[in-house]
Amino acid sequence: MAKFIIKGGKKLSGEIEVKGAKNATLPILTATLLASGVYTFSNIPELKDVEVMIDLLRHLGLVIKKLAPHTYRITNQGIKNIEAPYELVKAMRASFLVMGPLLGSAKKARVSMPGGCAIGARPVNFHLNGFENLGVKITVDHGFINAEAKELIGAEINLPFPTVTGTENLVMAAVKAKGRTIINNAAREPEVGDLCNLLNKMGAKISGINTDKLEINGVDKLQACDYEVIPDRIEIGTFIILSALFQGKILIKNARLDLLVDFIKKIEKAGIIVEKTGEYISAKIFKKINPLKVATEPYPGFPTDLQPQLMVLLNLANGDSTIEENIFENRFRQVPELNRLGAKITIFEKTATITGVEKLTGTEVTATDLRAGAALVLAGLIAENTTTINEAEHLERGYEDLVGRLQALGADIKKQT
Ligand code: EPU
Repeated sequence: MAKFIIKGGKKLSGEIEVKGAKNATLPILTATLLASGVYTFSNIPELKDVEVMIDLLRHLGLVIKKLAPHTYRITNQGIKNIEAPYELVKAMRASFLVMGPLLGSAKKARVSMPGGCAIGARPVNFHLNGFENLGVKITVDHGFINAEAKELIGAEINLPFPTVTGTENLVMAAVKAKGRTIINNAAREPEVGDLCNLLNKMGAKISGINTDKLEINGVDKLQACDYEVIPDRIEIGTFIILSALFQGKILIKNARLDLLVDFIKKIEKAGIIVEKTGEYISAKIFKKINPLKVATEPYPGFPTDLQPQLMVLLNLANGDSTIEENIFENRFRQVPELNRLGAKITIFEKTATITGVEKLTGTEVTATDLRAGAALVLAGLIAENTTTINEAEHLERGYEDLVGRLQALGADIKKQT
């Protein structure tokens, strides 16, 4: 258990660099199960979740070596094991992303059932129904999902909801299926696109990338290749809010605004000016923060992964804002914690109402999940006095060396274990 201790109110300034996208890295790593050979991946973020995925891939028989910071070599000399054990799936739900590529390459997988998690029930029924459409037989025993097919056969899959990891899993199963697969209502998140671009570089035939209709023409063989992961748009959004909270004194390097169109539109409506100067992005508050009405949606809508951080900005708005959460049923766990810091937020069904306050004041709070934790760090940096964030290890799943990077900007933050 780690704690972050933040003495708020320090003036932050300087440069912060965006790392590679966690949610692109995880499926991209699993895609190496699809073809033997040697891969070199760059812009891989150094995160707990990435370590868990590397452990899992090693367990399945891949050889992984870190060549330099953010650069890894993965050698697939054949899959030795098709089972993803309980400890690794429990440590990270995204471990379920090995099922699609294992089916694609070995036609067989046994993956521990991912349970609920802090942000909601998160079932995998859409993944499994899609696999069944491709001719896979699914059975469940002793908490494991077994998937097996004599042959995967292309089919039309209609997703009831554009599930991100579901789309990724199905694409990875379909790339080596016989014939053509169509995925309707596919997730359009840029991380899905990044995975598809890698797969095409490996020899797959995927069209409709970044649209809600993916067409995959199965191929017999794929080959290993090198690939650079896109920047993390959730880090970009988190740092834009950070920059605004410190009046543009924080310059963000490696940011791509095209990955965050709806987010930028919304925060500009709140009176934030986002500026690009050379290779840097910064943001500042123009006069005051206007209240907003926001609803989270699948991409290209406002991302659920930035809703807790936006809430911190809206705590300081000039009036009442609302955030409607439409992706996960339990993603307002930051609310009671922000209220401990002096925020005024109420929740009714899936909408939070945030009444602007003059200031936040530090106290002891708990990070219940990764993005709730990010919101508490932002709040702690602008709050008066000391904020102690318990269970801060959640932040290490998605933000590389956050403490070090914030210290470099002048923040008084330390980690205690
Ligand atoms: N859903 C189902 N059945 C399924 C799949 C999804 O009912 O078979 C429901 C979920 O319960 C949820 C909704 O559909 O209510 C959307 O879930 P989705 O499957 O899209 O989420 P995910 O793939 O599990 C990814 C990211 C999340 C991000 C969401 C939404 C990865 C590894 N994870 O999760 O990232 O919040 O998409 O954009 O890509 C994070 O980084 O903090 C994080 C949680």
